[in-house]
Amino acid sequence: MAIPTAPIEIIDADYYQENGYPFHIWDKLRKDAPVAYCEHPNLVPFYAISRYEDIVEISRQPTLFESAPLLVVQPPDMAMQQQIRSIINMDLPDHRTYRKIMSSYFTKKRLNESQPKMDRVAEQILDAVAAKGDEVDFVNEVSKILPLAVIAEQLGLPVEDRDQFFQWTNEVVGALDPDFAREDGTKGPELALKAIQEVFVYCTKFVEDRRKSPQDDLTTVLANAKIDGEYLPPLELLSYIFILIIAGNETTRNATSGGMMTLMEHPDQMQYAIKHPEVLDSMVEEMVRWSSPIIHFCRTPNKDVTLHGVDIKAGEHIAMFYPSANRDETRFDDPYRFDILRTPNQHLGYGIGEHLCLGAHLARLELRAIFKGILHRVNHVELIGEPNRLKSSLIGGIKSLPVKIDFAA
Ligand code: HEM
Repeated sequence: MAIPTAPIEIIDADYYQENGYPFHIWDKLRKDAPVAYCEHPNLVPFYAISRYEDIVEISRQPTLFESAPLLVVQPPDMAMQQQIRSIINMDLPDHRTYRKIMSSYFTKKRLNESQPKMDRVAEQILDAVAAKGDEVDFVNEVSKILPLAVIAEQLGLPVEDRDQFFQWTNEVVGALDPDFAREDGTKGPELALKAIQEVFVYCTKFVEDRRKSPQDDLTTVLANAKIDGEYLPPLELLSYIFILIIAGNETTRNATSGGMMTLMEHPDQMQYAIKHPEVLDSMVEEMVRWSSPIIHFCRTPNKDVTLHGVDIKAGEHIAMFYPSANRDETRFDDPYRFDILRTPNQHLGYGIGEHLCLGAHLARLELRAIFKGILHRVNHVELIGEPNRLKSSLIGGIKSLPVKIDFAA
């Protein structure tokens, strides 16, 4: 059988920047070509997986479908796996050993203790917005702040350095976006590499400090963790801190911006949520299904496999498109309806299986805190300009979102 192909738009960073998500293409792929070969001139070729059930099946077989060979479809010289070795791009058995070091710190019980503090920070963010006047860039004044503050606090890193974390995150995730090029001209793969190295240098001094003077923070846990009686090797240790700084930042920021944009597009739902604060949790879940901030992650089978009649050789790459799975009509009733009361809502925004997002509960609490504050204090929010999108086919990023906020008296 001829191998079905997928249009390059699904992996083209320029397309995402100009148009947002190609839902019409994913709809067709799910229907006619659930495994489709995609060859972009500047990227490694891959097979696109668009159906919910297939992403679940693949993610649940980590010994066959590995993460280490390729995490993200990027220009070959930019591949992150060449520079970091963290749980997100490790395979069994190391993956489980390393994930266990952190998993007890990302439990609901432990994180829920931070909810009152997150609510307070969310209040401060909204106080600052209210003091500025009613027209603001929602990304800069709201979405970006809480995830940065929370991860700095969890890791015990100075909250004053959060603008630096913001810059590093943008430079790693948005390296292809000309807006993030440095003044000295550093851009693209070179920029991502430089930012990673700077994060490593920055974290090294905190690791040394926490070995001498342990504190009650995650940097102390990682700096003093041992496997077979030895500290974690420097690459794995620094990559771990790096992934915690980066992974929760851009994603939660974009779920916040995407969530706000969606509420503005669905004013009836916004008004319902203002009147019924008890819908907060299911609203936050629906926002993540709807915005699906992560566009894709890759897997690479270590044996030849056949999926939907398509033969994939060991070592060839697969990309799983989460936003497509989250609009899969076989899984979600009326998937193009934004419904803050949707139940059940087992979306794949946080992935599934062995690599299920470690920070999913933290992200939920952050989104909860910020939208609780907004719904409590706001009468109405309105878009007053075009959103400016990130040039990336990994993250559906919004760089700025001009809004007018009408605060309740
Ligand atoms: C709305 C916000 C978020 C979204 C949409 C999101 C999405 C994802 C997805 C799809 C994966 C799966 C990767 C795979 O299967 O290959 C993942 C993994 C991961 N996420 Fe998140 N994430 C979010 C927030 C966070 C936060 C707040 C943190 C922590 C501070 C975090 C840390 C991680 C880590 C460490 C992994 C790797 C887990 C592993 O490989 O075992 N994420 N995330």
